[in-house]
Amino acid sequence: MAELSEQQIRDPRRNISSDAVEAARGRLADRGIDPDKVVGEGELGGSLRVVDFYLMLGMIAATEKSGQAPTYAMARLALEAGLPSEVADTLYLAYMQQSAEEASHGDKVFGNAYYAMGGAAPAGDSSAVGSAGGSFLAPTDDPKQNKKRLGGMAGLLGGIETVALNRVFPAVVGICERWEHPIGQDLVQQIKESVRPEESRHVLTWRYVFHTLIAPKGERVVEAFYQGTNQGRRTLGSPELDPEAITRLLGTGAPTRRQLLGKDRVALS
Ligand SMILES: [Fe+2]
Ligand SMILES: [Fe+2]
Repeated sequence: MAELSEQQIRDPRRNISSDAVEAARGRLADRGIDPDKVVGEGELGGSLRVVDFYLMLGMIAATEKSGQAPTYAMARLALEAGLPSEVADTLYLAYMQQSAEEASHGDKVFGNAYYAMGGAAPAGDSSAVGSAGGSFLAPTDDPKQNKKRLGGMAGLLGGIETVALNRVFPAVVGICERWEHPIGQDLVQQIKESVRPEESRHVLTWRYVFHTLIAPKGERVVEAFYQGTNQGRRTLGSPELDPEAITRLLGTGAPTRRQLLGKDRVALS
């Protein structure tokens, strides 16, 4: 499977053929959008244009959508891992919610903006993380094995979430602000109102797994979790975090179930 790095997402000129760029430019022009307006600085130097941003959005949409299956599998795994029922229930609910939210980020937010700009559905194989983890995550008959998979994959998913939250979304928002187009303005609003709060809760799930299942097991298991987190970041070609930074992000205790599910926020009237 074609795997893309965060840098490729943030600067699509790395891996897109000139034919694909020309096709994208045509689609944008058909929608009355100037493909060559400069909207940012490239990771490779030079300028990022609207056409590069369009290609970037397709990759982000596909990558978000590919988070749906492994998180759905994690929810199933949580019920088959011999966990105390309170923990199993909490993780089941949190991962089911996360699965729905990744699908929504992929299809409804980023896929929607991509479609509005050019009218083609993003290709499934544009995902930066491939179709991560489907069969590997299927529950086995052995609860201990399931628990190990759950803990391992939770570290990896958490690492990916930290990249999305702290590196990819800020880059998108910066480009949209410079673009000054209604599609970009809508996208910024959706990132602010739904994507960021939801991704923040996905990071909380990583934290919950750490404090509930990992920290009590001692140093070696903790170290493996930290390595899993950095492995998730490496999947996107992003810089690793040092142990102090991971410790800081993990905080000092497990969040509550209501916090994980976003139910402790004040209701919007
Ligand atoms: Fe997401
Ligand atoms: Fe997420």
